[in-house]
Amino acid sequence: MKDIYILGIETSCDETSASIVKNGREVLSNIISSQIDLHKEYGGVVPEIASRKHVELIIPVINEAIKSSGIKKEMISAVGVTFGPGLIGALLVGLSAAKAMSYALNVPLVGVHHIEGHIAANFIEHKSLEPPFISLVVSGGHSHIIECTDYGEFKIHGRTRDDAVGEAYDKIARTLGLGYPGGPVIDKIAKEGSAVIQFPRVHFENLDFSFSGLKTAVINYVHNEKMRGNELNITDVCASFQSAAVDILVENTIKAAKLTGLGKIVLAGGVASNSCLRARMNEEASKEGMEVYIPSPILCTDNGAMVASAAYFAYIKGRKSKLNLNAMANVSLEEIAKHA
Ligand code: KG4
Ligand code: ZN
Repeated sequence: MKDIYILGIETSCDETSASIVKNGREVLSNIISSQIDLHKEYGGVVPEIASRKHVELIIPVINEAIKSSGIKKEMISAVGVTFGPGLIGALLVGLSAAKAMSYALNVPLVGVHHIEGHIAANFIEHKSLEPPFISLVVSGGHSHIIECTDYGEFKIHGRTRDDAVGEAYDKIARTLGLGYPGGPVIDKIAKEGSAVIQFPRVHFENLDFSFSGLKTAVINYVHNEKMRGNELNITDVCASFQSAAVDILVENTIKAAKLTGLGKIVLAGGVASNSCLRARMNEEASKEGMEVYIPSPILCTDNGAMVASAAYFAYIKGRKSKLNLNAMANVSLEEIAKHA
């Protein structure tokens, strides 16, 4: 069979990324230009700054992705691009570049849902992984429990009713003066502490999450301790928060796997890099005889390769987008084909 090379483009938030992936699972290049340093001083992503930086970087990043892949651009079979959800101005930059490439190379455009991309990172990391499986997608913008029934086909079983878990990490880190992004630093500090402070674990009748109450409880605890003049044990605060967050993520994911009878659990998104989440998920799943799949940290973060992989599986199933595809700040994962 002829090899299929996909150019994948991702600009939904603060990473400008492009990649060439062969046959959906083999990464030939994955160029990620992170804007983290630019947004750090504001304690979070500033949408307008992100859009402008994407404009500056998108062409050099795409050129570098093609050059370092070792293929000629004429060998590209299709261009995959994140069209939503995300920051609208940021999405538009990647989407416009993708349309231009698709038009110039005379190859199809494939619109990819950002969460679909995160999940596809696992097809790159785990060469024989196939649907169906249960996926926990956790990032700065999402906390979802998703059943992947087939490539590009999804059913949502649970989602956050307020903050995403990564958002809670970032806001707590800001309160503690730990900088942005908060996840990696809290993950590191928590290793030195003990989960001795009881923070709330919110349960619903279904598999939804809530992290806003947990975030507020941690922030209130920090302020109260300061007001009482007590020395704050930051390592214990981080360990206790992380333990509460991970408990509920693991518990609901295992419940979803049992409910659907699926023995494969797939983690995805920036927070899937978290060492405690990885360890606890592996531990609890193995008690149930379930398998856990996790991408390496570079594929957990936003990147073009995950988009190229998702686009490949969509492309071989015949999903193609029109050149008038629009960027969407919010778009349903269960109805990608309708929008893309
Ligand atoms: O997937 P991603 O790169 O971008 C979004 O789509 O949001 O995820 C970024 C999020 C940030 O909230 C960051 O703090 C979090 O992932 N994160 C982590 C870790 N590494 C990144 N959270 C917990 N532990 C980590 N090790
Ligand atoms: Zn993401």
